[in-house]
Amino acid sequence: MKKVAILVNGGDAPGLNPVIRAITKTAENNGIECYGFIDGFQGLLDNNYIRLDGQKVSAGLIDKGGSIIGSSLNTIIFHYKVTNPDGSVEYKDLSDKCIQNIKDDGFDCLFTLGGDSTQKSARDLAIRGVNVIGVPKTIDNDVACTDITFGYETAVAVATDAIDRLHTTAETHHRVMVLEVMGRFAGWIALGAAVAGGADVALIPEIPYDINKVVEAINKRNNAGKKFSIVVVSEGAMPKNGEASTYEANIGEGTGIVTKFAGAGDRVAKEIEKYTGMVTRCTTLGYLQRGGSPVAYDRILSSKYGARAMELAMAGKFGVLTIYKNGKIDDISLEDVVGNNKKIGAVEGGTKDSNVRLVTMDDELVKTARDLGICLGD
Ligand code: F6P
Repeated sequence: MKKVAILVNGGDAPGLNPVIRAITKTAENNGIECYGFIDGFQGLLDNNYIRLDGQKVSAGLIDKGGSIIGSSLNTIIFHYKVTNPDGSVEYKDLSDKCIQNIKDDGFDCLFTLGGDSTQKSARDLAIRGVNVIGVPKTIDNDVACTDITFGYETAVAVATDAIDRLHTTAETHHRVMVLEVMGRFAGWIALGAAVAGGADVALIPEIPYDINKVVEAINKRNNAGKKFSIVVVSEGAMPKNGEASTYEANIGEGTGIVTKFAGAGDRVAKEIEKYTGMVTRCTTLGYLQRGGSPVAYDRILSSKYGARAMELAMAGKFGVLTIYKNGKIDDISLEDVVGNNKKIGAVEGGTKDSNVRLVTMDDELVKTARDLGICLGD
């Protein structure tokens, strides 16, 4: 093994640079050159990459948010959206060009840092004979087969800090403060932050909420003299017999139309104010959960993931995802990660075809939330 390459795809997450640093340092410590495709799959398509020299790269990376080699957002090389000069749109499978680039560049392994959609592309490339090893990245914590993705703990820490700050202003002004957090179709961030921040209500996509139960919980606190409440709402939360608050966004060349979330928190805040008569305000945390320096946990997890990924490459074990299971770093076939989504041609993250890990009702975080009396809207 002489040369390896890294690419990042999907929304950024704190921990990306520590993974890139760990792969690069482990490679260089074994006499292997490491490279990085610029802007993910777009860089692979354009054969645009840089040398990740251990000395240069590792300096100051462990605590740096974002990705020094950028990322592609929903660029799908198997289903690449091309806008023709006449304005017509067509989708092309450009994977052959990507595979040829890897061969011509002499890369012995491609590391794919990303979420469910990225690892689906990784599996499809593996089927086409590319030596691929995935590392599970997302603040949503919804990648299948692993207990945790890097980026999640930092997002929960940011949301928890926000809840701590909302507590003081809610109590001072006898208000209900709603905090909308990210997570796409999974409620892991909302649930984790609600427990960590001592919230009173947590609404997650996996439990369509009954607004009457939310109002009841807030009124109960009020009657007990607690003239304020904290409500955490996952961006993908939806009312019983209703839909999530979404819109369809076209986010650029090479991508399709993707479902975006917006407005879940405001929607709940308006209803709470209407039915409780309490002043209710919503704060949407948005991209603060994705930015900034990773917490120590994510720096350690990312370093473990990156070092293990490089070890697997040196052992010649490809077509796998590094995972964290029962407190240990391990690996699993990408076939298992994609689940029933076997059709070649990547899938948009979080769609009905993609295989994501949602909150289950028997999860200990759900049980803990209920034991603590956090209202989950049901
Ligand atoms: O997947 C990470 C994530 O931050 C989701 O929680 C969020 O819904 C989505 O990305 C936002 O995507 P974009 O960066 O394309 O707006």
